[in-house]
Amino acid sequence: MTKIASPRAFLLLPFLIFHALSQPESSIAPMEKTEQEALYMVIQGFVGQRWNGSDLYPDPCGWTQIQGVSCDLFDGLWYVTALSIGPVLENSLECTEKSEFSPLLFQLKHLRTLSIFDCFSSHEQTSLPSSNWEKLAESLENLDLRSNQGLVGGIPANLGQLRNLQSLVLVDNSLVGELPMELGNLIQLKRLMLSGNRFSGQIPASLCNNLNQLLILDLSRNSLTGSLPSSLCGLSSLLKLDVNSNRLHGSLPPGLGNLSHLTLLDLRNNCFSGVPSKSLAGMESLQVLLLSYNPWDGSLLEFEWKNLRNLTTLDLSHMGLKGTIPETIASLKRLRYLALDNNHLSGVVSSKFAALPSLTALYLNGNNLTGELEFPERFYRRMGKRFASWNNPNLCCNAAAMATGSAPHGVAQCKQDQEPSTNGSISNERVDDRNPDQNSGLSTSFLFPASSISGFWWGIVVQEVMVMFLLVMLL
Ligand SMILES: *[C@@H]1O[C@H](CO)[C@@H](O)[C@H](O)[C@H]1NC(C)=O
Ligand SMILES: *[C@@H]1O[C@H](CO)[C@@H](O)[C@H](O)[C@H]1NC(C)=O
Ligand SMILES: *[C@@H]1O[C@H](CO)[C@@H](O)[C@H](O)[C@H]1NC(C)=O
Ligand SMILES: *[C@@H]1O[C@H](CO)[C@@H](O)[C@H](O)[C@H]1NC(C)=O
Ligand SMILES: *[C@@H]1O[C@H](CO)[C@@H](O)[C@H](O)[C@H]1NC(C)=O
Repeated sequence: MTKIASPRAFLLLPFLIFHALSQPESSIAPMEKTEQEALYMVIQGFVGQRWNGSDLYPDPCGWTQIQGVSCDLFDGLWYVTALSIGPVLENSLECTEKSEFSPLLFQLKHLRTLSIFDCFSSHEQTSLPSSNWEKLAESLENLDLRSNQGLVGGIPANLGQLRNLQSLVLVDNSLVGELPMELGNLIQLKRLMLSGNRFSGQIPASLCNNLNQLLILDLSRNSLTGSLPSSLCGLSSLLKLDVNSNRLHGSLPPGLGNLSHLTLLDLRNNCFSGVPSKSLAGMESLQVLLLSYNPWDGSLLEFEWKNLRNLTTLDLSHMGLKGTIPETIASLKRLRYLALDNNHLSGVVSSKFAALPSLTALYLNGNNLTGELEFPERFYRRMGKRFASWNNPNLCCNAAAMATGSAPHGVAQCKQDQEPSTNGSISNERVDDRNPDQNSGLSTSFLFPASSISGFWWGIVVQEVMVMFLLVMLL
């Protein structure tokens, strides 16, 4: 432990002397030899054999701190509490092509956070250790493995032993298989994010039965099948539920409205059909509701819009919706983004949309809307390309809008307004289809900020806690 005779250590001598002066007596943070050796070996497993920890960092919890390693004191000895591997900061430890989990990982008995980002490359495939997780059961709170193309295999059932785990993030890896029902044993979980893998099978009901503290559930971008388990509706603390881009089907469980704290519900790109009527009625906190690309086939009248006063983002495109657009949607005062395009909607468009103070995107294209668009010129100017109404053959614009050149693309002049010699200019040409992700920054990365990649999920938690706090204040 006190061997600091290597030439490299002398480079650090001035710092050491400074440290020795400011902290008289022992300037080396006392550590168990096994703990220190385990730390070196674990890091070596990820970054390669050539990395010589004891040489470079003789005092890893003291004056030669390793980037990405945090320590804490327990009974007068220093232990590793956080380990973060991967190119997060410029001088972070980077992985070798043959990185692997050292079995000594499980000896770091005070490890609270393990974060591995962009480490396991696709050249050498690695799996999660299938056993020994119980050794970290007391300590491990955050397990965060992101963007590891070479991380393959399934989630080991043994991971369910981590009974103190609060955040499990396995995002954008190459994991496969069914979600083990043992995940339901992680009863302290506040955040479960498994998006961007190749998980298949059904969402285990156990997952929903027990995880009462869950705030964020993100299973998006996998190949999950079956329907949403009705036990989901018991997760009353849930703030974000994202299962977009899977193969889920069926109608939504009737109790879904019990998720009264939910701020985000993203069911895009699945095969959900039919709404059990009013099933979203209780979600008064909902801010973002994304249901596009589902063969829903219903009508907008089935939703209890007037309860969803806090909605800012509503994406209902490509859902086979029929019927008219209810006026109550145009009275959702906080709406910023509304996409109703590519459905079978009919009837007239309420001019009330122009009065929504925050509206910056309105997509109505690809429907069967009729009558005259009665928006003032300044509305079209404000919206620019984020207003779309083409491909509605029976929709028209008044002569005034035509004259000033503010008329929306692909909409003809109304017949009664037409001068006898002109034919109007119905254009069936499709301009680039609207893309919510580009036009309003609407994407999962927007909703879950990129800063969280670092493995420090406190930003998010603080955000969630703020929301919770606001809710508590209100009650
Ligand atoms: C690491 O460095 C120490 C001290 O310089 C040396 O004794 C040891 O053999 C080295 N270990 C490896 C694996 O190279
Ligand atoms: C939803 O809440 C109601 C009343 O609060 C309750 O009776 C029902 O069991 C809940 N549904 C689910 C699925 O939790
Ligand atoms: C709606 O949003 C406001 C402001 O963000 C918040 O204070 C209020 O609690 C929200 N309402 C509900 C029902 O969540
Ligand atoms: C569009 O609406 C008109 C009546 O407004 C109706 O005659 C026509 O059949 C509808 N077209 C489609 C494709 O639904
Ligand atoms: C366009 O107007 C001309 C006369 O100006 C008329 O002969 C022609 O039929 C019109 N075309 C359409 C599609 O209405």
